[in-house]
Amino acid sequence: MNDLLVSGFLAPGWGWYVAILTVLSLLACLWILRANSTKKADTSEAKLHGQNEWDGLREYDNPLPKWWSNLFYITVFFAFAYLLLYPGLIVTNGLLGWSTASLYRDEVREMKAETDPIFEAYSKQDVKTVSADKGALKIGARLFQTYCVQCHGTDMRGSKGFPNLVDNDWLYPGTPDGIKATILEGRNGMMPPFAGVLKPDQITDTAQYVLSLSGRSTVPAAVGRGEVTFKQICSACHGPDGKGNVALGAPNLTDDIWLYGGSLATIVETLNKGRQGQMPAQKDTLGEARVHLLAAYVYAQSQEQAQSQPQSNRAP
Ligand code: HEC
Ligand code: HEC
Repeated sequence: MNDLLVSGFLAPGWGWYVAILTVLSLLACLWILRANSTKKADTSEAKLHGQNEWDGLREYDNPLPKWWSNLFYITVFFAFAYLLLYPGLIVTNGLLGWSTASLYRDEVREMKAETDPIFEAYSKQDVKTVSADKGALKIGARLFQTYCVQCHGTDMRGSKGFPNLVDNDWLYPGTPDGIKATILEGRNGMMPPFAGVLKPDQITDTAQYVLSLSGRSTVPAAVGRGEVTFKQICSACHGPDGKGNVALGAPNLTDDIWLYGGSLATIVETLNKGRQGQMPAQKDTLGEARVHLLAAYVYAQSQEQAQSQPQSNRAP
């Protein structure tokens, strides 16, 4: 079966439609050629085609010259030979087994044969060791630019809902192996919605308490009421002092670094609607060897950049 059909690009019925039409039109070409070349040339007055005569040249209704129709025969036979060798009919693969997909697969195989030994060698070292290797970081940077920037940004600083990876503030364990586990298996942050559970006043009060954790609330009475709710409900995940829990991906609420935003309105929205951040697992798409290099790269960048710019991602 041809790759075009395997890939679902064409429904199988269309393959036969194309094949039959192609073969029929080639046969029709042959038939027309034969019908025209069995006639004998006739230059009598009767065969003069209308009154077409110009400057001594007269137009007759005669067959093509032999050399000319032979050229046509050759093109038709070339077409048959081509369709036999290559997958031009769609329903056959061609005797040579050539296809753009097999070409692509061959190229990928060649590339892998070249790169796999390099990745294997790095896989044998632990992530931290690899994170000090200049060659590995170069490959890691390329992998990151290809597979990760659409969510985490070319500067790795993320955006709303997509964490900054270089501020050394971690939702999940920020150790070399913790980062590798995040990339390999993916992560699902589950902040439940509280709109039906808490009254609107309670939501605002709790949000005020959350603001106070980073020293930004100006309404002490609300903070007092919010603290009660927080200790009852929120501390289960965010911890009694709001410092978060990397096992659940519950953010530290005291460091003024925000995944979704630290304004009162955004925090109220987070509490009402909940949040579900999803980091897609890369195990099946990239494979462990590439994830190993990516983890080393992210770890190295977070160590390096956090030292130069420790105050990133602060609330406005
Ligand atoms: C489709 C968007 C998306 C892509 C693509 C993506 N990520 Fe993520 N990533 C996220 C989200 C969202 C989170 C936060 C998950 C949460 O909120 O629980 C995250 C979390 C992370 C974390 C944990 C951060 C922390 O603070 O603990 C790391 C590390 C990470 N991603 C690395 C990567 C790498 C490396 C790649 C490229 C292979 C990648 N991500 C590709 C969306 C993405
Ligand atoms: C079941 C565990 C759980 C409970 C209970 C919970 N949270 Fe969360 N919370 C999370 C997780 C996990 C996230 C991160 C969501 C994500 O990664 O998308 C989060 C995110 C947040 C954020 C967003 C932080 C940011 O950086 O933008 C705020 C604010 C927050 N929670 C406050 C609260 C408050 C207040 C309560 C109590 C009313 C509460 N949470 C209860 C697990 C929980």
